[in-house]
Amino acid sequence: MGFLDQIEPLKQSALGELRAASDLSSLEPARVNFLVANGRVTALMKQLGTLSKEEKPAAGKAINTAKAELETTLAERRKDLELKAALPREPTDFTLPGRRRLLGKLHPLTQVTDDIVRSFRKIGFVVADGPEVEDEYHCFDALNTPADHPARDTQDTFYLENSEFQNASSQSGPTAQPLLLRTHTSSVQIRVMEKQQPPVRIIVPGRVYRRDNADATHNPTFQQVEGLYVDRGVTAGDLKGTVEFVFKELMGSETSIRFRPHYFSYTEPSFEIDFSSPLTRKMGKEWLEIAGCGMVHPKVFENVGYDPEIWTGWAFGFGIERIETIG
Ligand code: DAH
Repeated sequence: MGFLDQIEPLKQSALGELRAASDLSSLEPARVNFLVANGRVTALMKQLGTLSKEEKPAAGKAINTAKAELETTLAERRKDLELKAALPREPTDFTLPGRRRLLGKLHPLTQVTDDIVRSFRKIGFVVADGPEVEDEYHCFDALNTPADHPARDTQDTFYLENSEFQNASSQSGPTAQPLLLRTHTSSVQIRVMEKQQPPVRIIVPGRVYRRDNADATHNPTFQQVEGLYVDRGVTAGDLKGTVEFVFKELMGSETSIRFRPHYFSYTEPSFEIDFSSPLTRKMGKEWLEIAGCGMVHPKVFENVGYDPEIWTGWAFGFGIERIETIG
């Protein structure tokens, strides 16, 4: 058979194999059979050298055209089969009901509160709760903040006239107390210690109230988290380690904290906690104040009937809104 006569049958048989391939894996043997360096088309091309000068140009042209056609067909087949492979195997049932998207999500403050609670749970704290309508004793006096104490001025709040609440929230401590909206979650420290013996390891997320005018950093209602740990031999080192662990969990490992001496009537010594993170730096500040804390004052232990010679503890309180904005 002459050279030119071999081209068409070879091309047809190659086209046949390429078209017959029903998926990408069966396309590959067809390509290898005809179109690689030692395939059948190349083998035929090699025979060009044996042809006479006159025959060569036409024969060369014909084989090149055939080869180009096969390569185009191979590329098209590959595209089709790739598309086929990407399509779902099961036919789509367009009559099925659509997937419903959940509407809304948890409020950012709830999300942050959940995160804080989760971190403390990991290290053995439980969540405690107390009334938002509180009496003066639990909010102030029991926390070593008597009526003439200047700290009361900075935590001015809303007092209630309705004495109905009086009985509800005064199960313990002196009765016939003026009722108010609690200014901090620290009142729950007292409520919990009145009811149980040490060891105590609680956190208290909750809403608090102050007679503040609303501005960018103040609101008459806001959220706090209180922490209290009471046991034998508890140290300020435990306090620092715990706070550091939780803040790093909440705001990333690049967060650092520092303690500054401060004054709270229910802790001695007392500190304020500042933290520093890439975000505070972005806000143009190295340190941002976030919490108050300290070692529980012996007077507080006496008020709840714990012996301060035996028990030691630390407490802290911070505002959730700050963490929510920054974390
Ligand atoms: N109750 C304080 C406030 O509302 C925060 C606080 C400071 C809580 C020191 C504590 C503490 O438990 O030990 O500003």
